[in-house]
Amino acid sequence: VVDIRKLYAQTGMFTYDPGFMSTASCQSTITYIDGDKGELLYRGYPIEQLATSCDYLETCYLLLYGELPNPQQKTDFVNRVTNHTMVNEQMQFFLRGFRRDAHPMAVMTGLVGALSAFYHDSTDINNPEHREISAIRLIAKMPTLVAMAYKYSMGQPYMYPQNKLGYTSNFMRMMFATPCEEYEPNDVLVRAMDRIFILHADHEQNASTSTVRLCGSSGTNPFAAIAAGVACLWGPAHGGANEAALNMLEDIQKMGGVAKIGEFVSKVKDKNSGIKLMGFGHRVYKNYDPRAKLMRETCHEVLDTLGLGNDPLFKLAMALEKVALEDEYFVSRKLYPNVDFYSGIVQRAIGIPVSLFTAIFALARTVGWIAQLNEMIADPEYKIGRPRQLYVGATKRDVQPIDKR
Ligand code: ACO
Repeated sequence: VVDIRKLYAQTGMFTYDPGFMSTASCQSTITYIDGDKGELLYRGYPIEQLATSCDYLETCYLLLYGELPNPQQKTDFVNRVTNHTMVNEQMQFFLRGFRRDAHPMAVMTGLVGALSAFYHDSTDINNPEHREISAIRLIAKMPTLVAMAYKYSMGQPYMYPQNKLGYTSNFMRMMFATPCEEYEPNDVLVRAMDRIFILHADHEQNASTSTVRLCGSSGTNPFAAIAAGVACLWGPAHGGANEAALNMLEDIQKMGGVAKIGEFVSKVKDKNSGIKLMGFGHRVYKNYDPRAKLMRETCHEVLDTLGLGNDPLFKLAMALEKVALEDEYFVSRKLYPNVDFYSGIVQRAIGIPVSLFTAIFALARTVGWIAQLNEMIADPEYKIGRPRQLYVGATKRDVQPIDKR
């Protein structure tokens, strides 16, 4: 009998690396992370500078084309995106097939995948022109789709995009305006939402990006590959963490608020409880998530603007952050608040329902997924992704007749 595990170990033919802890799946020029220093660069530019000096569409241009746009390039890019903000009118009938209480990520997975059924002229992933137009379409239509999913869940009419508005103001208007009442975008809130988009735009080979690359490597169309990314992002260990973090805060609040933090943290430390402190920890950042620092700043600005500094949930979040930053369990494991811990508080303050948080993350990450997909396909050495496995099942055996089993 051959022990396959031993054979694999002896031949050393390939590595076994659960969770890809130390295996690079590709080469990339898009995003650089130094987890020990807490550094994040898009195309070489520090995230802090991009978040303070650029807007989201400039960041999209940078991720897609490798350089920040000059004024003419920015105008052209903004115009191209703006021209594509409408979705095919038939999409609303597709949307109507969903239950109104469906999770927005279930709806988004369907809607994004369905784009490939509407835009046949941009489904050939190996054709650079198709990739270019599908990229523009996806970036332009994601805010419209997220807002449609929200309005549908509320039973309200959809608000069509208004192209005289900027990308982020347009999104907020589609979310919050109604045919009865216009929405006047507030600069601080628009800037906060834009910053959420910038900070979530790319993050190298995370689970959803790796999913998009793997899916695209089969030659499927770009919309299908991005839909796979949306599906992967949904999980609470990834993009679903912002929703999970806010739900956790609400649970602690119901238990009794700040006074119950100690009790909750004890449960988290008990490995048998299966409870994690959502919005804390990161696979790569073992110092501090630089996006969290920026989002924390935005969080204060938004709450001050809205006069919500005394909001009990915000106070609870700050108290929890303090406890975790001082507790030996979290300090020794280098578990710091991540971007999702604060982005949930900001979005809730802006008026975004908790169940929509991950869909907004998907909107923002779409450009990163596309940039990564384009980089992979444009590489002449790209191959279909096909991980190996370490087989640990039964060795070869014979099927017994059913009466002898
Ligand atoms: N709460 C409590 N303990 C934690 C947490 C947490 N949030 N995160 C990790 N730990 C513990 C683990 O139990 C483990 O303890 P041990 O050494 O005693 O066994 C140790 O810290 C190391 O954790 P790993 O699970 O090995 O870390 P990994 O890198 O695999 O996980 C992850 C990273 C998935 C982000 C994890 O920290 C987590 O689940 N956090 C909560 C969910 C979350 O906020 N996700 C958002 C990620 S950011 C993003 O997607 C934008």
